Amino acid sequence: MSLTLVLKYAQFTRPISASYGCGRAWLCTSHKLHGNSVAGSLYHETYQRSIEKPAEFWGQVAEKIVWTKQFDKVLDTSESPMIGWFPGGELNVCYNAIDRHVDEGRGGQTALIYDSPMTKTVKKYTYAQLQDKVSKLAQVLVSMGVSKGDRVLIYLPMVPEAVMAMLAAARLGAPHSVVFGGFAAKELATRISHAHPKVVLSANCGIEPSHVVPYKPILDEAIAISKVDNLKCLIYNRDNYPKAHLKPGVDFDWNEAVEKVSRGHDAVPVESSHPLYILYTSGTTGTPKGVVRGSGGHAVVLNWSLKNIFGMEGPNKVWWAASDLGWVVGHSYICYAPLLAGITTILYEGKPVGTPNAAQFYRVIDEYKVNGFFTAPTAFRAIKRVDPENTESKQYSRASLKNIFVAGEHCDNQTRIWAQTSFKVPVLDNWWQTETGHPIAATCVGLGNDTNPPEHSCGIPLPGYQLEVLREDGEKAKAGELGRIVCKLPTPPGFMETLYLNDKLYKEAYFSKYPGYYDSMDAGVMDEKGYVYVMARDDDVINVAGHRISTSALEEVILQHPYVSDAAVVGVPDSLKGQLPLALYVLKPEHGQISEEQIGKELIQQVRNSIGPVAAFKLAVCVPALPRTRSGKTPRKTISDLAQDKSVKIPPTIEDASVYEHIVESLQRIGYAKNSSFK
Ligand code: COA
Ligand code: AMP
Repeated sequence: MSLTLVLKYAQFTRPISASYGCGRAWLCTSHKLHGNSVAGSLYHETYQRSIEKPAEFWGQVAEKIVWTKQFDKVLDTSESPMIGWFPGGELNVCYNAIDRHVDEGRGGQTALIYDSPMTKTVKKYTYAQLQDKVSKLAQVLVSMGVSKGDRVLIYLPMVPEAVMAMLAAARLGAPHSVVFGGFAAKELATRISHAHPKVVLSANCGIEPSHVVPYKPILDEAIAISKVDNLKCLIYNRDNYPKAHLKPGVDFDWNEAVEKVSRGHDAVPVESSHPLYILYTSGTTGTPKGVVRGSGGHAVVLNWSLKNIFGMEGPNKVWWAASDLGWVVGHSYICYAPLLAGITTILYEGKPVGTPNAAQFYRVIDEYKVNGFFTAPTAFRAIKRVDPENTESKQYSRASLKNIFVAGEHCDNQTRIWAQTSFKVPVLDNWWQTETGHPIAATCVGLGNDTNPPEHSCGIPLPGYQLEVLREDGEKAKAGELGRIVCKLPTPPGFMETLYLNDKLYKEAYFSKYPGYYDSMDAGVMDEKGYVYVMARDDDVINVAGHRISTSALEEVILQHPYVSDAAVVGVPDSLKGQLPLALYVLKPEHGQISEEQIGKELIQQVRNSIGPVAAFKLAVCVPALPRTRSGKTPRKTISDLAQDKSVKIPPTIEDASVYEHIVESLQRIGYAKNSSFK
């Protein structure tokens, strides 16, 4: 594919010219030499070993974990693409994350710092205190009927009890499924129906800047919709907020239950492949996609990752991932990785801005002497918008900080440079997915990588990830040529085991299009030095403030409106959240006198009720008709291109090309497509 064609690649959803500057300049930067990634460097030697001798490499890395039964072998590819890591081995991830450090004499070290500007609370827990809390909570779960293999659903705000809940479930070998608080009752219900948990751990409320979110009524509604019977709930009542109504025999008060426990529960050894958790993610319509994370591989790779990818070594290091436990970044880098590595992790209940100001990131870094910080680019865009000169945060020192790591969405150069200047440390992008559980590509500072990677790149492939970029026909793309980023099998330790209750979908969704490879469904480029540039999702997923939202799922909800006959949702650029969903809908003739404004409001409410406020759905516009190809497909890409002011070529297979003129008119009414054109 030529350079011009690269920029016109049919699947792009992001405005390349805006985010990447001129394509030529972007490719030119990749020709520079990046000394530390060349042959002979520590990174290079480590990477080569991980690919050429994966069993030897990961077998050595696995020695840092306490196994209650040694694995029979390191790698089993006999059922590929289901890869077995450390078969025969047994361990407990909670033991490795807490008890191991206590047993090694580090029980007095701070494990967790909870900082909540929302409630003006700070709490600190040592590893010994965390062990006490978690083991007692595990005992409570046992008394509620939970044993190894039972699912435990966690629907909690960002309080220490959420971390304790994850670890208590892990202690029992009961896979947890954490659901993000910004999802509505129906989304929660889908997860409850699918995971069929024995117990749900929840709270009376979550606290958002503008309102209190009543979790318990949302949970009650979700359980009613899910029709799951015999479900017990353990409810944490937050101080200073109205207590949740507890149904006798069904709902139990968290604190009362824990107080009754005199001795905590020991960690239960589980097989290496035993599910540590199920995390639901977007990507396919209809069928829930529950990513299953195994125990052994995940513990091995996360324990290794903080030192080697993020340069965090030594027990006195302080690490802060400003994400939410409901997302994979929160699972891995608020909870498991820092605790496995035996360092201090910060749990922050607040936003980058407005809680109460734009100085909170700086305050937390200074107050706890944070050494490594991880967040999403959208958070920096939020601070930059409110306080571009950092006047609110002048008094805070950034001296403890060594690096900032960003992920979850593409980090535009302006934001990266602004954050780098503001925090006075390198801002390093890394690329990953719920499916992978840790980065696929990054600047591995712990392996001596240059902290000045080429602009726009998110680093080089992680050990274990043999990345390639393939064309539509499956042929390898050349360096600098755009295509689908794939990973050659075997996938490394920590990669998902399967999709919960759906091995078939696992194989079909990720391994059928490019046999022998994991299909990341991200479009991107690799340069001749191996640096990776991730452009956009190649499926129906858009990225809103670092959150993965399925446009088809939104369309389904919109089509439930009694007056809507057709709908298409596309992502449009947003200066804060990266992308926002925009719905084009067609009304049925019988819609009567209801105004478009009213229908728009109803659609927005419908999405909030079904999917949740996290979708940030605010843009809906009525159109007379949607474009359809002769085979019945909606060319969403052309609509999103028009909304992005691009010059669009109408596909020759479109039944009625005149619909585009009306679409442009409608988009212009809401401020988009002002400079779009047709080729
Ligand atoms: N529980 C309940 N509701 C929640 C919630 C939670 N845990 N988290 C978010 N919401 C709600 C918000 O209240 C808001 O609702 P509203 O429309 O009624 O106001 C909606 O979901 C969107 O919230 P949010 O995404 O936080 O947007 P925002 O405009 O309030 O804030 C940012 C913008 C950039 C500050 C915010 O998106 C952010 O901090 N993003 C970081 C993303 C991140 O960490 N991603 C993880 C990947 S590394
Ligand atoms: P999630 O599974 O929710 O973590 O979302 C994963 C998706 O987010 C990926 O498939 C990418 O599309 C996007 N993503 C994550 N990290 C990056 C990054 N560093 N650059 C560009 N896109 C990213």
